[in-house]
Amino acid sequence: INLWKKTMNNIEQTLSIIKPDAIERNLDSEIKKEFINKGFKITKEKKIQLTKSEAEEFYKVHETKPFYNDLCTYLSSGPIVVMILEKEDAVIANREFMGATDPKKAEEGTLRKKFGVSIDKNSVHGSDSVENAKIEINFFFKD
Ligand code: CDP
Ligand code: MG
Repeated sequence: INLWKKTMNNIEQTLSIIKPDAIERNLDSEIKKEFINKGFKITKEKKIQLTKSEAEEFYKVHETKPFYNDLCTYLSSGPIVVMILEKEDAVIANREFMGATDPKKAEEGTLRKKFGVSIDKNSVHGSDSVENAKIEINFFFKD
């Protein structure tokens, strides 16, 4: 059973967003390169701008939080790049590669450490569970 576990790989998909602060600084190709170098495959991507109400729907889990309104205003303030990333254990791998929500607390070598400006302008979003990855992928790429 241990041998089976070791040789079996668990390819997952997760949803990644390059947020408006990073697009505004023209960091999208650099961030995409970072993901590819880290072994992620970008299987789908598109550049879009959300309406405020679409952002509210996307971040509905945070609707009771004090930062909810500013967060939704910000996410809909400019273009974003949404991507499906594929890799072994992609959900956790992406969360680790993004780093802590607050760039000041993000570990060395993480995207938020490298590119993030502040807790709200932290450059990237990533799904936090396999279940939410499916919901978020479906939100942006239903077909
Ligand atoms: O993005 P992540 O999953 O790391 O954090 P979250 O707790 O799910 O919060 C979603 C987003 O809300 C964060 O990425 C921040 O941009 C923003 N946020 C904020 O502006 N102020 C906070 N105190 C916490 C989060
Ligand atoms: Mg989150």
